[in-house]
Amino acid sequence: MRGMILAGGAGTRLFPLSQVASKQLQPVYDKPMIYYPLETLMSGGVRDICLISSPHDLPIFQRVLGNGHQWGIDLSYEVQPEPGGIAQAVIIGESFVKQEPFVLVLGDNIFYGQTGLKSLISNFGGGAAIWGYRVQDPQRYGVIEIDSSGLVASIEEKPDNPKSDLAVPGLYVYDGTAVSRAKDLTPSDRGELEITDLNLSFLDDGQLSAVELGRDVTWMDSGTHESLLESSAFIAAIEREHGQKVACLEEVAHKMGFVSRAEISETIEKMPQSPYRTYCERSILG
Ligand code: G1P
Repeated sequence: MRGMILAGGAGTRLFPLSQVASKQLQPVYDKPMIYYPLETLMSGGVRDICLISSPHDLPIFQRVLGNGHQWGIDLSYEVQPEPGGIAQAVIIGESFVKQEPFVLVLGDNIFYGQTGLKSLISNFGGGAAIWGYRVQDPQRYGVIEIDSSGLVASIEEKPDNPKSDLAVPGLYVYDGTAVSRAKDLTPSDRGELEITDLNLSFLDDGQLSAVELGRDVTWMDSGTHESLLESSAFIAAIEREHGQKVACLEEVAHKMGFVSRAEISETIEKMPQSPYRTYCERSILG
């Protein structure tokens, strides 16, 4: 299955940091934020990935991530000229998804732990699949109710009076109808094509299922100064405690069998001397 990462958006909430780099290129502890959603896709077995960003930031992503071959993946890029919403990215990716099922992940969403994406992809039978994650402030997110058979009973974007505490993280699996459904959407009050409206279109056809992420998974949306700091602190604590890095893409690529030991060793040799390189040498090359 192909994967799309949306790394657009105005990023205004992170001003003045957003003047230096887009939100998804800000550091989350020891890596650019974009490494984390890339890990989410790669651990799901997704190797053909299209990154969508603004005309200003796209060249920076291209310089930082390249064609992805160093990690055994194919990275392509598409421009989102204006921040027109997450569902607009689905339309922009039309020629990339070729009417086939695909995964969409938001570039500012960090998942730590098993999302179950890999098995969901293997068993995907069409429609749309999303996740639910219990939060204390559901008003900030898409919010769902799930019935006992795993079907979504309702979905609302940033409701004032949420019907549950299940927020919808920025990870979605869609069948090939998603592009034409996205084209039928009309912009919301904030002038964007809302991903929740796309999900609603699947819900109306009885084709929206959801899985609740368990307590062993941590999900973070890192779009504010506070959440950026919290994400960094969380990743730093996990890495210190486990002695292992989160979202070390060389390590993920090697574990997933996307690259051979010889190939990864070549990539590591090109890295400047740094704690990251030392970690890769120790953890991958042994
Ligand atoms: C977007 C979606 C929302 C989802 C959230 C996850 O919100 O619209 O449904 O819960 O991403 O990060 P936004 O970041 O645009 O406020």
